[in-house]
Amino acid sequence: MTTNIAVLVSGRGSNLQSIIDSIESGSIRDVKVSVVISDVKNAFALERARRHGIDAIFIDPRSFVDKKAYEQDVLKTLGQYDIGLILLAGYMRIVGREVIEAYRNKIINIHPALLPSFKGLHAQKQAFDYGVRVSGCTVHFVDEGMDTGPIIIQKCVPVLEGDTPDTLAARILEKEHQIFPEAVKLFVEGKLKVEGRVVVRT
Ligand code: GAR
Repeated sequence: MTTNIAVLVSGRGSNLQSIIDSIESGSIRDVKVSVVISDVKNAFALERARRHGIDAIFIDPRSFVDKKAYEQDVLKTLGQYDIGLILLAGYMRIVGREVIEAYRNKIINIHPALLPSFKGLHAQKQAFDYGVRVSGCTVHFVDEGMDTGPIIIQKCVPVLEGDTPDTLAARILEKEHQIFPEAVKLFVEGKLKVEGRVVVRT
C-alpha cells in the first residue's frame, strides 16, 4: 500500500528535494509525495514540486482571519489527499493543535540543531553564537510544543576552527539530507513506535 506524504515548506526546499530524490532512486519505497503546501508564495520548494509533477499549493496565512482559520484550510487541503505522513521541511510555523490531533504521531520535522538545545529559528546561528563544539540535526515527531516532540534520529556535526554560522549550517544541511529520508523510510516501513516521549525502533 502506498503512503501519501504531504510536505509543508516555507523556503528553498532542499530537504523536500532529498525526499523526492530518495523516492525516485528507489531507496524509499511505497510512498508518494502527493502534495507540497507552502505558506510563502514564492518558495522555491513549490517550483521543485512542480518540476516533479507534484501538486504545489500556496496557502496565504494572511488571507485568513486568524491562525485557526488558516489551519482549517490546511486541514481541508490535506483531507483531499488521504495523507498518511506529514513532513515539515523548513516550514517556519508552529503547527496548531487541531492539525496535530488529526495527525498524531504522523507529523515529522527536521531541525538544524541537537534538540533539546537551540529550538526555534536560526538554530545553527544560536549554536554557533553559544560556542558549542558540536552541533547537528534532529528529526522528530511533532507535538504541541515547539521542537519538543519524540526524537527519531540525530546526527552530530563538529564546529570547526574558522567556521561561520553559514559554513556550519551548510555542513549540518548535508546531514539533514541523510537523516530526513532515513526517518521517512523507518516510518513508512512501520519501524517507529512512540512510547511516551521516546521513539522505539521495532
Ligand atoms: C533546514 O535547515 C531545516 O532544518 C530548517 O530550515 C532549513 C530549511 O531548508 N528548519 C527549521 O529551522 C525549522 N525550525 P530547506 O528549505 O532547504 O529544506
